[in-house]
Amino acid sequence: MQKNDKILVIGSSGQLGTELVQNLRIVYGTENVIASDVKMSEQAKEGPFEIIDVLNAQGLFEIVKRYNITQIYLLAALLSATAEKMPKFAWDLNMNGLFNVLDLAKEKIIEKIYWPSSIAVFGPNTPKHNTSQFTIMEPSTAYGISKQSGERWCEYYFNKYNVDVRSLRYPGLIGWKSAPGGGTTDYAVHIFHEALKNGTYECFLSENATLPMMYMPDAIKGTIGIMQADPDKVKIRSSYNLAGFSFSPKEIAEEIKKHIPKFTISYKEDSRQQIADSWPKSISCAEAAADWGWKPEFDLSGMTSDMIENLRKCN
Ligand code: SER
Repeated sequence: MQKNDKILVIGSSGQLGTELVQNLRIVYGTENVIASDVKMSEQAKEGPFEIIDVLNAQGLFEIVKRYNITQIYLLAALLSATAEKMPKFAWDLNMNGLFNVLDLAKEKIIEKIYWPSSIAVFGPNTPKHNTSQFTIMEPSTAYGISKQSGERWCEYYFNKYNVDVRSLRYPGLIGWKSAPGGGTTDYAVHIFHEALKNGTYECFLSENATLPMMYMPDAIKGTIGIMQADPDKVKIRSSYNLAGFSFSPKEIAEEIKKHIPKFTISYKEDSRQQIADSWPKSISCAEAAADWGWKPEFDLSGMTSDMIENLRKCN
């Protein structure tokens, strides 16, 4: 850690932001991590918090100057399912929000950016198994189109303006501390809450809809890991594939049954199934492993035990 790191997390009240802020504050100190979201949040009780609309470039600039921000984690975005309902707004938020932050680094007002990409950059023509870093990418969702374009712009700003931007293509993220919102992989969090509360869950994806997933502690480790890596080790400036493990709704239900034997699952597919069908089933993260040492710790069974143990403690 550099002495003067001042971090702004935009979109801090979301599923990833909630946990990322807590972890960044352990590493960098509470006062050095400014949480921000488009509306007031309970997070304001835990440390510095600002209301920021990332589309308001001037408002963003003023906060960045006021706190002498050096790094921005830009998490504000519409996820896959919500973006299908408002594709143009998704494009506006996901792209222009990114430009506003990239331009702060281009102008040398900030030093470093983290921006999440997603497995949604891949599409129906991408090979589905052990999907490589470099392969066919023809996303068919509004979210995927915005993330793929964002990746191209990140690389462009790095090459052209020497902007230190770093990015990971997250799979579905699973955690017990915060709720997901608007994604296709959200079922993998809801299933735990329903299993513990009602002993049953109706899944909006089909039983064999296998997708790449990751437990939140690994996602946090990867995120802080790539941000702290030496710049010359971050060789890919679009976004790195990142993988934990893959499972289908049927397989996670079986795993949950080991802890809650009476748990039952039923299936009622909705439009999110189509999104899931367009994404890879498993991901290769060979480049992340080779370049900056990525290695996940959790598998399906470890994640399931930990989720259930922690959610039981919360109830
Ligand atoms: N978890 C995200 C979604 O389902 C994928 O990036 O939209």
